[in-house]
Amino acid sequence: MTAVTPLVHPHAGIGDFTIRDVIEGQTAGQLIVAADDWGWWTTLLGGDTIAPSTGIQQTVAHGLVRAGFLARRGHRYHLTHTGHDVGKNRGFVRCAVRGWEPTFRRLSGAAHDEYIPAATEPGEVARACTDIARRRPEIFATIGASIAAGTPGCTIDLGCADAGRVQALAGLAPREQFLGVDIEDEVIDAATVDVAKLGLSERITLLPGSVQPEPQPPAWLGKIDRESVTTAMSFFLLHQLASDGDGIAAVLRGWMEWFPNVRRLVIGDGYLLEAEHWTQQPWFSPTYEIYHTITGVRLWTQLEYERAFADLGWSVTRRMEDHTMLVTTILERG
Ligand SMILES: C[S@@+](CC[C@H](N)C(=O)[O-])C[C@H]1O[C@@H](n2cnc3c(N)ncnc32)[C@H](O)[C@@H]1O
Repeated sequence: MTAVTPLVHPHAGIGDFTIRDVIEGQTAGQLIVAADDWGWWTTLLGGDTIAPSTGIQQTVAHGLVRAGFLARRGHRYHLTHTGHDVGKNRGFVRCAVRGWEPTFRRLSGAAHDEYIPAATEPGEVARACTDIARRRPEIFATIGASIAAGTPGCTIDLGCADAGRVQALAGLAPREQFLGVDIEDEVIDAATVDVAKLGLSERITLLPGSVQPEPQPPAWLGKIDRESVTTAMSFFLLHQLASDGDGIAAVLRGWMEWFPNVRRLVIGDGYLLEAEHWTQQPWFSPTYEIYHTITGVRLWTQLEYERAFADLGWSVTRRMEDHTMLVTTILERG
């Protein structure tokens, strides 16, 4: 009897990446984003098939078949089970492939730097975040229902990006007014055009500016009726403001001073989940953690968020997990 030789490399650990995963994963990411820019995932997730009409489109479709995301029937293509998963999660792919790529690229020249200032593609990050939000419509429905249930007021989205969330909530809470503020002027300009096209300009006002509480109030605050704001929301920004400033509670305290009548907070953010190996964490967690570590932006644990909420007198009314580490919390105070 001869001994059976194991087929795995002697130094490979369970779940280690192979060279194939690294190279083909990168190409698959590019194909997924291109297909998204052509509207393919929206069509496919809507239950329709796609029919590539050019050589380039056929090459991408064929690549997506080889990756296992599409299946071909005649000259049309439909989603596989994995393809469905990929389409639903394409926002995460866009964020890593397009949004954060300029920052990761800078690693090469930064061996002796402490941090790399984030050099994102703001439009891509904005769209990625909106796509991530859209994949869990029930979270939106819960936020919309909680806003619509009370006396109508004004909801502000701090760091609203392309106003995707505000637009969706405007449909769910039809008597509410909405404000959105983001530091990226161009993203706000493009979102303002979209809001006008949707006929929502009467209900949604978007302003450029910073939402980081500073000793001097920002200029945009002088243009709004601060007392009218009853709900303050912020998604995937608080961790950064808290790192640049003086922690989570300091940022929330600043917002509470800006908006004296705020009675509801909706905070969505990525929590820190620590593990030594990539494969011990849910997907996207290692990428998220590495991106933030190289830019010097801290991530915060669930306990740190909840301690800050409690210290400021906020009670959790709903806590909704999207991806394992992306948590949206609705909070109220008396
Ligand atoms: C990760 S994105 C999240 C976008 C959006 N809240 C969402 O979840 O769909 C962070 C957003 O915050 C904006 N931002 C960063 N720093 C800011 C600041 N100091 N004031 C206002 N917006 C800021 C960025 O331009 C970007 O649109």
